[in-house]
Amino acid sequence: MKFFIDTADVGEIRDLAATGMVDGVTTNPSLILKSGRDINEVTKEICSIVDGPVSAEVTATEAEAMIAEGRHLAALAPNIAVKVPLTWDGLKACKALTDDGNMVNVTLCFSANQALLAAKAGATFISPFIGRLDDIGLDGMELISEIRQIYDNYGFETQILSASIRTVNHVKAAALIGSDVATVPPGVLRKLADHPLTDKGLEAFLSDWAKTGQQILK
Ligand code: G3P
Repeated sequence: MKFFIDTADVGEIRDLAATGMVDGVTTNPSLILKSGRDINEVTKEICSIVDGPVSAEVTATEAEAMIAEGRHLAALAPNIAVKVPLTWDGLKACKALTDDGNMVNVTLCFSANQALLAAKAGATFISPFIGRLDDIGLDGMELISEIRQIYDNYGFETQILSASIRTVNHVKAAALIGSDVATVPPGVLRKLADHPLTDKGLEAFLSDWAKTGQQILK
């Protein structure tokens, strides 16, 4: 499973890219607001840090205007994936932008039927929002399973990009189902390596090692 990080904070992106675990980045208008940066400048900078797909979201709501914004965003760097919302206008824009040869990420997906439409529109990625479904008492992971089954039934190549991930358990569940990608907030990515028994075991090894008086490098 690929990991994208869900942030427009270039400091976090540089730091996590150094771990070798970052396969791409996703942004959205809320994350651009949080960064306090100009969308064109920050998106270009992110694309220079990460080789993989960097999602940048259009903000127009009508297809023609979305296509114009999408073409502008796609011209910022070769690794841009234009993000469009899952509306009829967004689906039309998805088709036009993929026909141009761009990667397109269809976002704000909350149902399996929406995901089916996105695949038929040629989306490179579909972004089902797990956490926001959980927030209203539904099961976000059930949606990932349904989309996996539908895409496999028909051989759709659209990649499932599990989004709105809030916990390490979301990451594990998405991986078990076979989500192609998980986009995770930086804090969740960092927590994936944590385990109290790892810390406790390391402490014991280091304590015993100190008692040997040895050094590996002389
Ligand atoms: O990638 C979409 C993500 O940013 C939404 O996450 O936590 O705002 O639902 P959240």
